[in-house]
Amino acid sequence: MVRRLSTARIRMRVAAFISGRGSNMVALIDACATPDFPAEMALVLSNVVDAPGLDLAAERGIATETLPHRPFAGDREAHERAIDAVLVRHKIDLICLAGYMRLLTPWFVERWRDRMINIHPSLLPAFKGLDTHARVLEVGARWHGCTVHFVRAAMDEGPIVAQAIVPVAADDTAQTLGARVLAQEHRLYPHALSLVASGTARVEGERVAVRDHPLPVPAINPPEST
Ligand code: GRF
Repeated sequence: MVRRLSTARIRMRVAAFISGRGSNMVALIDACATPDFPAEMALVLSNVVDAPGLDLAAERGIATETLPHRPFAGDREAHERAIDAVLVRHKIDLICLAGYMRLLTPWFVERWRDRMINIHPSLLPAFKGLDTHARVLEVGARWHGCTVHFVRAAMDEGPIVAQAIVPVAADDTAQTLGARVLAQEHRLYPHALSLVASGTARVEGERVAVRDHPLPVPAINPPEST
């Protein structure tokens, strides 16, 4: 019998951090379940014990852990050291923040430097922070979108992996615009994770370089119908 060397590729073990509904987390779990995807969803971690996304993860057979921040009584780093121990226990290689509503300390961000990405519902560096859809409407911007970026200590900052854009309609409300952006988030995040986990996108000098790609930052444009 001829023994063949295994051609199975090593897949990155990903942890998704959530605090709420977890729709981006589900998009990542589904992507990880497709053949040849370069990452596996190894863990979903939440600081909110009753985050709806935890049930969605468990239904899909993904390990979950909850680490509420309150028992740490304001000691953010102690909370994150506990999180870090969980990540080590699950042999995590890469973190995807997916609606995790806690600012991370410089200690944690440095520890996971270039191994932690986030999705934000705007075309960064515009509209950092909360309520992005309402703020876009307020200033009358014609285009909006979402960004996946590597995480740095400053909020919603860090090298950009990929972006998706959507048009703003004259009769949009924050809800209709938010729904249009969210649909693109669900396409963009798996795409960006695949670029990072495969090593195609890497941080070089605080920008993301994408191997074998004509553009410095791949963009996902809205489908023809939007
Ligand atoms: C998304 O809009 C994401 O961009 C932001 O938080 C929201 C999380 O939504 N960071 P969900 O929990 O993934 O549905």
